[in-house]
Amino acid sequence: MNAGKNRAQNQKNAPAKPQKPVKVKKKPTANQSSEHTQVIQWYPGHMTKTKRRIEKDLKLVDAVAEIIDARIPVSSRNPDIARLTEGKPRIVLLNKCDMADPRSTDKWVSFLSRENVRAIPVDCRSGRGVDKFVPVLTEMLRDRIESYKAKGMVNPSMRVMIVGIPNVGKSTFINRIAKKTKATAADRPGVTRGNQWFTVSKGFEMLDTPGVLWPKFDDQTVGEHLAFTGAIKSEVMDTELLAVRLIDLLKERKTPEFVERYKLTGDDLVLQSYEILEKIAEHRGMLISGGEADAERAAYTLLDEFRAAKLGRITLELP
Ligand code: G4P
Repeated sequence: MNAGKNRAQNQKNAPAKPQKPVKVKKKPTANQSSEHTQVIQWYPGHMTKTKRRIEKDLKLVDAVAEIIDARIPVSSRNPDIARLTEGKPRIVLLNKCDMADPRSTDKWVSFLSRENVRAIPVDCRSGRGVDKFVPVLTEMLRDRIESYKAKGMVNPSMRVMIVGIPNVGKSTFINRIAKKTKATAADRPGVTRGNQWFTVSKGFEMLDTPGVLWPKFDDQTVGEHLAFTGAIKSEVMDTELLAVRLIDLLKERKTPEFVERYKLTGDDLVLQSYEILEKIAEHRGMLISGGEADAERAAYTLLDEFRAAKLGRITLELP
């Protein structure tokens, strides 16, 4: 089942090609590491067009499933989604929960439930949690289903739209949940021509093209969290600075995976973050001519390993 993936591919890659990335290249020194910030700016080109498309498609659906990254539930939500989907039943999928701290994920589920938002932790890569999607939706949409039936519709089919920022796992989810490709929409009045719908289970159909909204960040922390997790590409910012900011967080958490993986001692962990980056380079044998630590290479390695959850299951944002 690749249709969803293929169609989503272009959109998925869109934020990797910002029109005017502003790159601030400044190497931090040991004693300015933590205070040093960089400006990450982003100018997505198709935001308005995409928003309009989502608004139009929303008229066709009964519910919206918003996928967010369980490691950064605040930063991976586009604030426009709440506004755009106002009045629609909404379910939140906390995806990539295999990489997030399980206790923090539980806190998020409870928090969202207090806000009257149904949230399900899922790991779309392995499929864990995905089986809860239809039962929760059915419960959420019970009244709506009953009202369709009361109007004389036999076996009414509920339509759901998947939305989320790029790289949160929309295509992975669609590919996992979609049973078969079927353009059932063709028979429906008012349905946009060309829209394809997947059958999810009896009584549920999903729009195969997920609504992609770009992340929004006026706030530096949001930009950094998106970059740490790989939701936005590192090329638009300085990799060493980003790694230093990540070390600021990791040295507080001291996860065993981080400490052991880079053979960091207690003495290392009290150093400035840039010095820790140099230690990581030394411990990994990443040296440049003259035996100096190759901090840039270490920065790439650290970010790659964080993104692959090799430094532990870490949630960066709590409710
Ligand atoms: P998108 O449509 O929202 O843009 O995201 P997509 O499904 O393409 O997923 C982005 C990346 O996140 C993919 O990795 C995908 O495998 C991974 N991913 C999605 N869901 C999960 C999850 O629950 N857990 C984990 N650990 N990863 C997940 P990739 O490296 O870009 O692609 P691939 O090598 O896996 O094909």
